[in-house]
Amino acid sequence: MKKSLILVGTQWGDEGKGKIVDYFSSKYNAVCRFQGGHNAGHTIYQDKKKFVLHLIPSGIFYDHVQCFIGQGVILSLDSLLKEIQEIEEKGISLHGKLKISRYCSLLLPIHAKIDQLREDNKNAIGTTRRGIGPAYEDKTARRSIKAFDLENEEVLKKKVIDLVDYYNYQINTIHKAEEFDADLVFTELLSNYEKASKYFGDVTDSLEDIYESGEAILYEGAQGTLLDVDYGTYPYVTSSNTLATSVGIGSGFPKSIFSDVLGVAKAYTTRVGEGPFPTELFCQDGSKIADIGNEYGATTGRPRRCGWLDLVALKYSAKLNNLTSLCITKLDVLDSFKKLKVCVGYEIDGKEVPFKSRLLHQAKPKYKTLNGWSSSIKEAKNFNDLPKEAKKLIEVIEQFTNVPVSLISNGPNRDDLIHR
Ligand code: GDP
Ligand code: IMO
Ligand code: MG
Repeated sequence: MKKSLILVGTQWGDEGKGKIVDYFSSKYNAVCRFQGGHNAGHTIYQDKKKFVLHLIPSGIFYDHVQCFIGQGVILSLDSLLKEIQEIEEKGISLHGKLKISRYCSLLLPIHAKIDQLREDNKNAIGTTRRGIGPAYEDKTARRSIKAFDLENEEVLKKKVIDLVDYYNYQINTIHKAEEFDADLVFTELLSNYEKASKYFGDVTDSLEDIYESGEAILYEGAQGTLLDVDYGTYPYVTSSNTLATSVGIGSGFPKSIFSDVLGVAKAYTTRVGEGPFPTELFCQDGSKIADIGNEYGATTGRPRRCGWLDLVALKYSAKLNNLTSLCITKLDVLDSFKKLKVCVGYEIDGKEVPFKSRLLHQAKPKYKTLNGWSSSIKEAKNFNDLPKEAKKLIEVIEQFTNVPVSLISNGPNRDDLIHR
């Protein structure tokens, strides 16, 4: 039986997961999102058209692929319907191709409002301001409106009134902002449900059927390991577990854990929002990476902070996700650098510290310097087509992390890939 594959980001998100999931989708019959929400922005170029997917799995461009949104995903119906419309307007049909778990917790506009008010108040995390944190809080606090609540208007009405009351108190007393109207929230939900109800179903049963019929499933991670709410750079993290190990809970299909795990990493590092970033560059090299790599957030358009590849963090990610292989993306962005650096250790006051240091913001990176290749790798199709300096970088990554690099991405398009 072909093994299923979990694909995860190994850094702070935006590693190029969307492009790689799109590429792999040709080989799988099902693609499933299992955590996060529309904070994700996964970019795919399909027939020269650019798509940025937030909730819809990146396998949607293939007719043979069934797409699933598991219950670990926080679901904004507004965002879902907008995305469906945008995709269909570009000529891609979703008919019979998308199924969403009835057990998903819903994200409402009130969550986005609370996220924005908090971010504007104090101790900002630099969130996407989409309401992801408050929506996950509600799930854990057992007050979420679940997708299945939309099936019963009486239950829904009561839950909406309770939730709006709960938030209006905060909006009023802490933020002195405009309250929400429960009736309006209720009617908007019903109207959205009318358009979206055909997509809901039992994801666990469907994944089980696909698996038992001998087909393999591709699980699409969102965000990245260093944004994991437990293992990331807390509190500067997102509010879900982003690790491959959360796939069982998030997809609702326990056998998903018997999959290979492909970690996606850029050949350098980026981060959006606040929080420690030991290899961040504040010099010309940083702005050069940002310019060539076009490092602006796919969801919010914010400039991404840029720095050298952090092998200490990558090794940490490799361990936590039990990576079976790595895909290195955006190697082409480094084409014009005469010298490259990779971080091989951190020090605080002359003492070596691990990635998970409480004092990561004080950690000074120790670098290994490598020669650049000063030529374009755009046309390379095989590992042997790469200049020796680029091969050396890949080998250094493998040796440090002890994970084989099976795939190298040298451009944003589906075919810009080198197999190893
Ligand atoms: P994701 O969130 O992990 O799916 O990544 P994003 O879509 O947010 O950001 C990755 C960006 O890099 C997108 O604009 C992609 O089109 C682009 N990209 C992906 N792989 C490559 C690559 O190998 N080279 C270049 N130059 N761009 C890439
Ligand atoms: P993809 O799937 C990069 C970051 C935000 C912020 C922190 C918390 O495209 O890789 P949140 O809105 O989740 O409460 O914000 O997490 N963040 C991402 N950064 N890529 C993402 O997704 C992200 N999703 C959230 O910038 O620092
Ligand atoms: Mg992204």
